[in-house]
Amino acid sequence: MKKFCVIGNPIAHSLSPKLHNFWLKKNKIDAVYEKKQLNEKEIPKLIESLRKTEINGVNVTVPFKNTIIPFLDDLSSEARKTNSVNTICIEESKIIGHNTDIAGFELALRYINFDVKRKKAFIIGAGGVSPSIIFALKNMGCENIYLTNRTLEKAENIKEIFNDITVLKWGDIPDFDIVINATSVGLNNDNFDLELNKAGNKKFFYDVIYNPSETNFLKNAKISGNKTENGRMMFVYQAHQSFALWNKVLPKIDEETIEILK
Ligand code: ATR
Repeated sequence: MKKFCVIGNPIAHSLSPKLHNFWLKKNKIDAVYEKKQLNEKEIPKLIESLRKTEINGVNVTVPFKNTIIPFLDDLSSEARKTNSVNTICIEESKIIGHNTDIAGFELALRYINFDVKRKKAFIIGAGGVSPSIIFALKNMGCENIYLTNRTLEKAENIKEIFNDITVLKWGDIPDFDIVINATSVGLNNDNFDLELNKAGNKKFFYDVIYNPSETNFLKNAKISGNKTENGRMMFVYQAHQSFALWNKVLPKIDEETIEILK
């Protein structure tokens, strides 16, 4: 029986086991997918288990998407560019880091037919997922990308990778068509103190958070007459791509799939 897992800290909230185990069963694959809460010291042991094929694939979430990289043998070009790994595979006995968050975000926007070409995107947060969102936006032809973060230095570090983005001080709001919450704010019914209404209404507010399904960021945006979307489909599509890398099968994304995450 094959074994997959998601590592993170905290990890209790993760819906990855639910989704992957559902697809494994549907596709009659003899495997199990678990969640593991780790601390950084335990990463070498996890890598050892991959080498011994006691574990066949790993998803990586906060806070390890970046810290896992030195332990891997090689990276896909997307993982290298974004310095971010969310999926680990074993390929010809090598441990390879991939980034399926990029495709996850891209496919999620395509799913709702939101075209970012010639639009202005404002990203809030310079944590683990932000480089993937920037990479995806650029892939889709978005030319104006603004980035802000409470800790300015972290946004400036991302600008080192993507030098044509504009970094803004916390509190500065640009004119935007789409604003993306890529912070952890909203997970605990919290909100930030940004005046996002300054840009007017009828904008598109996207939250990477999918649990809760409507953060205060989205709730307030909706009240002010904006279009909103949570991160559920991004989550589904990143998982879909990971599943395909490990099992060489693209499982079905149907209503039943989406329903199990509600
Ligand atoms: P990491 O910072 O380890 O990459 P993350 O969950 O990927 O973890 O990122 C958390 C993001 O949420 C960061 O952008 C963080 O801002 P800081 O870099 O200033 O810490 C942001 N964040 C968390 N709590 C916040 C708050 N109360 N207000 C504003 N931003 C917050």
